[in-house]
Amino acid sequence: MPEARTPLISGNWKMNHNHFEAIQTIQKLAYALNPEDYDHVDVSVHPPFTDLRSVQTVLQADDVPISLGAQNVHQEKSGAFTGEISAPMLQKLDVSYVIVGHSERRELFGETDELVNAKALAVLAEQMTPIVCVGETLEERRAGRAEGKVASQVAGSLAGLAPDVVGGLVLAYEPIWAIGTGETASSEDAQQMCAHIRRLVGEQWGADAAAGVRIQYGGSVKPANAPELMAEPDIDGALVGGASLDPDDFARIVNFRLYQT
Ligand code: 13P
Repeated sequence: MPEARTPLISGNWKMNHNHFEAIQTIQKLAYALNPEDYDHVDVSVHPPFTDLRSVQTVLQADDVPISLGAQNVHQEKSGAFTGEISAPMLQKLDVSYVIVGHSERRELFGETDELVNAKALAVLAEQMTPIVCVGETLEERRAGRAEGKVASQVAGSLAGLAPDVVGGLVLAYEPIWAIGTGETASSEDAQQMCAHIRRLVGEQWGADAAAGVRIQYGGSVKPANAPELMAEPDIDGALVGGASLDPDDFARIVNFRLYQT
């Protein structure tokens, strides 16, 4: 039997909180969580780039077992790329997880699977873990093309990665129609797609990779729906947007087990 996958609950702050607000938020979150709350769950927060150093300082000073994450990265290590941030820069700030291919980056900034793949490789080269996002639009779901879309995103975004690398990755299934809309995929639909993703990983990278890869669900995860989503066998965590801005709500999501019936 492979070891159980530790759920990863990640807060994606998106373009919210200046560095003063970030300090307040991380302090409140650290206060809202007890040491034993981290026993069976990994937690990461993904502030904007300008907040990373401030949040890192708070986490280190108080020895808080929350991992620091970023929301994006440039695929090159350095160079003439005005306005961009590289993986070595993030690594120096003790960043552990980097979101790549978020649907907002794919939709609003034209990121392709090929680019997401290059970013994932850049993150891995600095010994950090990419959180690779995939997910379909409402139109694609209605047309019965959701599974095919996700399959091509998984294949393209993870192209060329070795099985042991894929086994250590985090994937996030975020149906675009459920992001910031208050609409959540039903836990059955989310489970079905996460199982589909795990099957795809198994077919392309083998059983160990499929057993090891952690698959998060994202899209209007709230304290009220987290326990049911997390109870699904192929959902190994949550990528939380709006609700992660409220430290109490996010702490309740981290503690989803306490609310499971
Ligand atoms: P919401 O939780 O606000 O729907 O955002 C989900 C998301 O995009 C996390 O990356």
